[in-house]
Amino acid sequence: MKNKTVLITGATSGIGKQTALALAKLGAHVIITGRSQSSRGSAVAEIKEASGNPNIDLLIGDLSAQANVHSLAGQFKARYERLNILINNAGLAASNRELTVDGIESNFAVNVVAPFLLTHLLMDSLKAGISARVITLMGGDVPAKLDMDNLQSERSFDRLNSYSQSKLAMMVMMVEFAQRAQGVTMNVCYPGQASTNMTRSVTAEMLPGFMRFAFPLFKLMTRPDGGKSAAKASRSSVYLASSKDVEGVSGKYFDTNNKIADWPPAVLNTATRERLWSIVERLSQVK
Ligand SMILES: NC(=O)c1ccc[n+]([C@@H]2O[C@H](COP(=O)([O-])OP(=O)(O)OC[C@H]3O[C@@H](n4cnc5c(N)ncnc54)[C@H](OP(=O)(O)O)[C@@H]3O)[C@@H](O)[C@H]2O)c1
Repeated sequence: MKNKTVLITGATSGIGKQTALALAKLGAHVIITGRSQSSRGSAVAEIKEASGNPNIDLLIGDLSAQANVHSLAGQFKARYERLNILINNAGLAASNRELTVDGIESNFAVNVVAPFLLTHLLMDSLKAGISARVITLMGGDVPAKLDMDNLQSERSFDRLNSYSQSKLAMMVMMVEFAQRAQGVTMNVCYPGQASTNMTRSVTAEMLPGFMRFAFPLFKLMTRPDGGKSAAKASRSSVYLASSKDVEGVSGKYFDTNNKIADWPPAVLNTATRERLWSIVERLSQVK
């Protein structure tokens, strides 16, 4: 990974931080993004020390606001000539239905609009990198069907379902993007479950009734483990970022074992893809 520039969103903790560490150990120049300057510097220092790689930088931006996504892309372009690998790792599982400053439901804003917009804004930098790759992380159990009438949980909000629907929408967008983009590969991966801030913040009340009986087991699986499970979960992103096996492979979905898996049916539906693409293009004001 020497001479490769990698940008990883939401990499100040959890799976993103472990991904950054692993790629830093492989010699990449790693740029992580975080939401605020205050506590984020420590992640850079930790990654530098643990990897022995001094080429670790931080860019600041809360991806829920489109102005910040533009600012992040602008900061990147001002400082770096090219981007070899973009990892859309940042993700949100909002506890309540909230609207962002752009008036978009927050899960949809962070999990769908932000990765689309950031990838779009960085396309020139990606094309300037050789064999550039875009990797986006999906989450949890993805439903087969995308509820086009409830994309932003306008009709009903349920933490797990709203999160899963937004991740499915992101998959649909990335497959469409992979078909439209030239000279850049785009794939989606499932990292597997890890103990991170996101999973540790889940409470029994957030789960649908039929899943609450399994909550003690979930709590056990997500108890703090010093980043061990997050490091394991980072292997999907690290594989897609670094392996020669996936050179030129695009528009695929990789499971936790780095095997190509079937897309959910919604992803294969051309009408759904085109409709969602135009909705997200309009929401992100790229057209
Ligand atoms: N953990 C799992 O079991 C699991 C399973 C499947 C998929 N995933 C996916 O893996 C990815 C990483 O999640 P994680 O489990 O490692 O959770 P995490 O430790 O909570 O990391 C999420 C990252 O996203 C960032 N983020 C959240 N909202 C943001 C926003 N508005 N703007 C900028 N950054 C934002 C967080 O920043 P802050 O530190 O500032 O909050 C954090 O760095 C997510 O896409 C998640 O959906 C996780």
